[in-house]
Amino acid sequence: MKVKARHWLEYRSEEELETWIREGRITSPYFHIGGGSNLLFLNDYEGTILHSAIRDMEILSEDDAKVLVRVGAGIVWDDFVAICVERGWYGVENLSGIPGEVGASAVQNIGAYGVEVKDLIYQVETFNMNGEKKVYEAGQCEYAYRDSLFKKQEMKHVFVTYVRFCLSKQEHYSLGYGTLLQEVQAQGRCDLRTIRETVLAVRNRKLPDPGQLGNAGSFFKNPLVPQAQFDSLLQIYPNMPHYPAGEGLVKLPAGWLIEQCGWKGKNQGAAGVYEKQALVLVNRGGADGREIMALAQAVQASVYRKFGVRISPEVNVIA
Ligand code: EPU
Repeated sequence: MKVKARHWLEYRSEEELETWIREGRITSPYFHIGGGSNLLFLNDYEGTILHSAIRDMEILSEDDAKVLVRVGAGIVWDDFVAICVERGWYGVENLSGIPGEVGASAVQNIGAYGVEVKDLIYQVETFNMNGEKKVYEAGQCEYAYRDSLFKKQEMKHVFVTYVRFCLSKQEHYSLGYGTLLQEVQAQGRCDLRTIRETVLAVRNRKLPDPGQLGNAGSFFKNPLVPQAQFDSLLQIYPNMPHYPAGEGLVKLPAGWLIEQCGWKGKNQGAAGVYEKQALVLVNRGGADGREIMALAQAVQASVYRKFGVRISPEVNVIA
């Protein structure tokens, strides 16, 4: 079901944003969105939704080894990936097909197929509600798995305007994730375009297109469990997929845990668990945010009952 906002403000430049702030046009409550593809609104939003339409892109410097680019927050993420692939800039190709926009990529630290955007970002430009510009070095952004400084409540008044990426001009690929290497090899060539097409094909097979079937990608994060808990779970479930996560922690795929609880392809009202990837909750038609949340809570409860593992939303839930 569609939700509505009281006001919608879209700015095309930093100057326009600055003017609006100075003139007091942005009043509380307000909320800044990107493409909106990772948000779940539980109600209509009784305030102002802000959106960046800053869509310019410039090369800041370039040599034989790398290129530094400054990219407007409002550029569609996958359009940026397509440009990089076309120009022979290495780094973001595994992130092909991720919905959303460039600004949000730096907030959410998007990731897929063994690559996280934090490793390609070197600076994030921001503007805040006091009218101040600040450039954050990547090291100041507190990047972690699907997390950053910009997701914190106290950073609500800070908007990303541009993201600066450092991309390589020297051929190198990151094909260590799952079956990606075999899938690329099966094409008989390895280049940026082939990787992009392979990633898009893999995503198409597993992930529903939000334009066709309402969804916000992975609804939950993959949980981290202590080594001791993992060891006892492995005794019971010797085939459980898992990844080392450092510091005595092991990452478990939430999709596998949810599937083992029997949820894959199941519906609860108009909300459902996607039949090809249990980590994705879908709107079968007309479900509102509360119905999706009710399903999410039922899924969380059964994963906790069966495995003693708490899974938490990756999607940003706006109450
Ligand atoms: N699995 C199942 N059943 C399922 C889903 C997964 O058994 O229904 C198992 C798979 O067989 C595999 C493991 O779980 O052994 C991992 O599955 P997959 O490779 O599909 O990745 P994921 O961990 O479920 C994560 C990201 C995705 C990203 C993929 C590929 C998170 C929360 N999700 O999913 O990101 O595309 O890896 O890198 O980290 C997103 O964030 O919205 C998103 C789609």
